[in-house]
Amino acid sequence: MTPLPEPLPAGRQALPWGEGRKEDSPVANSPLFHYSIRMRVLSGFQPSGKFHLGNYFGSIRPNIEFQKKSDVSFFMVADLHSLTSLKDPEELRSSMRDNVLDFLACGLDTEHSVLFRQSDISEHAELTWILSTVTPMGLLERAVSYKEKVTKGIAASVGLFTYPILMTADILLYRTDLVPVGKDQKQHVEIARDIALKFNNAYGETFVLPEPQIQKEVAVVPGTDGQKMSKSYGNTIPLFGEEKEIKKAIMGIVTDSKEAHDPKDPDTCTIYQIHRLFLDLPGAKALAEEYRNGLPYGDAKRQLFEQCMEYFAPMRERRSILQKKEDEIHDILQKGAKKASGVASETLERVKRAVGLI
Ligand code: ADP
Ligand code: TRP
Repeated sequence: MTPLPEPLPAGRQALPWGEGRKEDSPVANSPLFHYSIRMRVLSGFQPSGKFHLGNYFGSIRPNIEFQKKSDVSFFMVADLHSLTSLKDPEELRSSMRDNVLDFLACGLDTEHSVLFRQSDISEHAELTWILSTVTPMGLLERAVSYKEKVTKGIAASVGLFTYPILMTADILLYRTDLVPVGKDQKQHVEIARDIALKFNNAYGETFVLPEPQIQKEVAVVPGTDGQKMSKSYGNTIPLFGEEKEIKKAIMGIVTDSKEAHDPKDPDTCTIYQIHRLFLDLPGAKALAEEYRNGLPYGDAKRQLFEQCMEYFAPMRERRSILQKKEDEIHDILQKGAKKASGVASETLERVKRAVGLI
């Protein structure tokens, strides 16, 4: 795979088409260029059941924060990708509805970001085919995510194998500079970059070369059993679950067998490792001190529960209001699709011209 240049010269290879591009700016040569210039960002999420605290702190919150720093941002619900693993139509429909509500409740600003559904934009599937004709088999054969998913029991379909090409189409259609992703998706963005380069070499400069933006500061959020929090492990604390469901999950966090007032080690305590995510540095330090001074686990769990309810209260309220406004959600997705389609169709037209289809 092509190694990424360091430091990332984001946007430098980009072609000067599309609004909001700044490569001709006088500060483009400054060492601060990468940090000071706002960029085009695309985030993508598979609608996959109910979100949990791991999704929120590991992905939803950093993505929403990062989008605020961008010039133009696209927030895509990758429902076509979900078809590779989700085979229950009703579950797909309800996850789609739930996850759109979740993002909006968590603060996704549709004035700034274009929220849309991948399947609403037919250019994704069309570009995927064109890109597949320049994608070497070997590139996909090296994709670790495919192998991991097959090992986990997901059917080894052609769609699962070519998943990275669809993701490449998602990224390239919107002339994306930066793709904020967790470490697990970094290889997919590198594949997108490689495919864009292959295409540009074959047909002339057409695509912007994207960079992954890895959220370094976010560690793995532990689940109630101390392993990585994940739907597949049944150890989650649901983000927008019923109050009693959240309480039950938190009260069930596994701890060691220390006596109530024994000193506790915050670094190895799952309750603390989750609680600190809600706090700033001084707050987390003060809480760690309480653990060292013998905070009983029962009290620590109650504190975490209260913190969790307080932190998410405004989002829960927003969500319950939005839930009753089906029409508004429908309008948001329609408007998003219209804006996304404008950009995607322009890119696809350039691609078709480049390859000789028009
Ligand atoms: P799950 O493991 O529950 O199936 P997904 O794989 O659907 O979760 O996660 C979507 C995104 O949420 C991931 O790309 C990852 O960035 C983030 N994420 C999920 N679980 C965690 C976790 N425990 N800690 C940090 N980030 C997480
Ligand atoms: N593959 C990503 C995941 O599972 C979701 C995704 C699809 C995506 N298309 C994307 C992420 C484009 C970023 C950009 O998390």
